[in-house]
Amino acid sequence: MSLATWQTAEKKHLIQTYDRYQVVLTHGKGVHLYGPGGKRYLDFLSGIGVMALGYAHPVVTKVIREQSSRLVHASNLFYTPFQSRLAQRLAKLSGLDRAFFCNSGTEAWEAALKFARAYARERGHRGRTRFLALEDSFHGRTMGAVATTATAKYREPFAPVMPGVAFVKRDDIKDLRKKFSA
Ligand SMILES: Cc1ncc(COP(=O)(O)O)c(C=O)c1O
Repeated sequence: MSLATWQTAEKKHLIQTYDRYQVVLTHGKGVHLYGPGGKRYLDFLSGIGVMALGYAHPVVTKVIREQSSRLVHASNLFYTPFQSRLAQRLAKLSGLDRAFFCNSGTEAWEAALKFARAYARERGHRGRTRFLALEDSFHGRTMGAVATTATAKYREPFAPVMPGVAFVKRDDIKDLRKKFSA
């Protein structure tokens, strides 16, 4: 099948939220990705930084295969054998206390916004609700992420967004100081 076939099918059945590169990928192995007919690409993107172990790593493939035959999903209402083990490992490797598991970058960002609010509130700073974010940044597709994304085309179509956000110029310590205390 050609690129045009995929494009036509997506346009018809998929809400068009992304500009894609004119490339179709079918599989990967190690540091390479492959398209139809075996066209090979050296991967410098790594799924925007999430495929650090490469594609089709034999250990990762084995673990996914085994676990998918046991239990794929049980909800957060129950304990499963691996969450605490992974959290413990991450805490040890990072030197931080505890982990928060989520499914996407935008959820991680949303959690960070909520942790900041909870932190201020717990310390009695109920008025400290502002957020500073960088100009030219992107944080994801949820409403908190949209509110903290400076690029107008990502934010304005969803207005009114969460108030109390200021955008700081990159590499501009004066701007940061000014907006930090404002
Ligand atoms: C810097 C940054 N933050 C957040 C996100 C959102 O991540 P996700 O698509 O996993 O929600 C992205 C995705 O491209 C990103 O590049």
